[in-house]
Amino acid sequence: MKSFYLTTPIYYVNDAPHIGHAYTTVAGDVLTRWHRQRGESVWFLTGTDEHGQKVMRTAEQNNAAPQAWVDKLVADAWKPNWTALNIANDDFIRTTEPRHTERVQKFLQSLKDSGHIYAGKYEGPYCVGCEEFKLPGDLIDADGEKLCPIHSKPIELVNENNWFFKLSEFTQPLLDHYKNNPEACQPESARNEVVSFLEGGVSDLSISRSTFDWGIPVPWDTDQVVYVWFDALLNYATAVGLTDAPDSEGGKKFAETWPADVHLVGKDILRFHAVIWPAMLMAAGIDIPKKVFAHGWLLVGGEKMSKSKLTGIAPSDITDHFGVDAFRYYFLRAIPFGSDGSFSWEDMSARYTSELANDFGNLASRLAAMIEKYCEGKIPAVAEDSALSAALVETVAKADSAMVALDFQGGINAVMDFCKRVNGFVTEKQPWILAKDPANQAELEAVLYNTAESLRALAVLLHPVMPATTEILWQSLGAQDVLGDISKQQISSVAKWGQLPQGATVTKTPVLFPRLEVKE
Ligand code: MSP
Repeated sequence: MKSFYLTTPIYYVNDAPHIGHAYTTVAGDVLTRWHRQRGESVWFLTGTDEHGQKVMRTAEQNNAAPQAWVDKLVADAWKPNWTALNIANDDFIRTTEPRHTERVQKFLQSLKDSGHIYAGKYEGPYCVGCEEFKLPGDLIDADGEKLCPIHSKPIELVNENNWFFKLSEFTQPLLDHYKNNPEACQPESARNEVVSFLEGGVSDLSISRSTFDWGIPVPWDTDQVVYVWFDALLNYATAVGLTDAPDSEGGKKFAETWPADVHLVGKDILRFHAVIWPAMLMAAGIDIPKKVFAHGWLLVGGEKMSKSKLTGIAPSDITDHFGVDAFRYYFLRAIPFGSDGSFSWEDMSARYTSELANDFGNLASRLAAMIEKYCEGKIPAVAEDSALSAALVETVAKADSAMVALDFQGGINAVMDFCKRVNGFVTEKQPWILAKDPANQAELEAVLYNTAESLRALAVLLHPVMPATTEILWQSLGAQDVLGDISKQQISSVAKWGQLPQGATVTKTPVLFPRLEVKE
């Protein structure tokens, strides 16, 4: 079975991760967990981009050798950060690993052999922050000085004899590709940008550098190192065995995973992924990825949040206060995927309190308390409120189609609307009033069963977004013993009513979303 293969960008290890990086990786984690719960075989890759001048210079500024610098940052900052955010990636690729460097060299040699690479001279502006050869029209003019619009820093002039890739030859095939496969570049605004960029004409690309040595040597000209983006883009394919013989382990992995289903990227790196990368693959006669999805930026003060502008916020600054699951929830819930969004403590606190603590957390703790009090801590007899169960069927259909289309906000909203509806059901039925008269016991139990069953479904549907909290709820509902692991619950059967059996033991939960401490 072909795996659903999703990648994040591989991040530069010039510094520790900030919430912009975490935004992409959390989105990838939520989507792959959703697909796993759809019963698909999934492969989720992330990693680090370790070569190039940007990383090399930061290492120098810190009096470290580049390899020692990247080793330390990956081990002390990047990997622990993903563990802390509960990211369930299947693999982690580093571009300094031999499995990558060897395959990059093989791939490059094959493009040279097939006539796609030639010797040339590059003269022009370069932004080390972007690691990108810039076009004069890309730059902004500040009192006569040319600045990169993304980094607001002066560009450098490069004048080198390099190796070039015949990128221009792929302009028309790429235009045809996006015309025939509009889903291959999303959202629509991103595709329009790529198409108009291609229509403007594309030059050949310098794919090597000769003035520094922190990179993969060009196999036939070891005075040059491979251009860092050419090296980095290949990670998506080298990590799953590109260039390996078909009957080898790597070759089999490649057949199972390639082409990638989704490359998640920030909009700053869209052109690399939607122009250069597919052209490299076309040149080699390899299938191109099914979709590149460009999300927006997290902004601070109206600008892209970044460490270089000293606006980077570490994920732990937020998770220390709100917890990991609220972090995972907030950005996907608050910002339409594809648009820019600003982070604010006020908005996050407001949503935490109203949506997570009140709508979801309180519902879970009230239900557990009432089952303990009115039903001796056991799930009562199966009952079905047809309006609720019908709403659940609709919720699952809506959430599933939104999630697979990477509309995280739409998917989460559909589920949270159902949560509101369940709250409305409890408020309307007033089980605490029913409990005053033993004659109402059957009705009371039916209300509580319907609420418990709704919470079972909510736990499953929110599991990809908030894995730890929903696991606690799952245990509290006594679902583990009877239904097995929450992560194994399928989206296709979550709406089947009556899965919690009578007699399952409900235990009170720790508060799922504790009241926020006042921040000084
Ligand atoms: N190393 C390259 C990617 C190579 S992929 C073959 C790179 N690295 S990066 O560390 O600078 O950033 C990578 C990604 O981090 C961005 O594309 C984006 O997904 C994410 N973000 C970095 N800053 C961001 C924001 N302020 N907001 C949202 N996402 C941001 O580019």
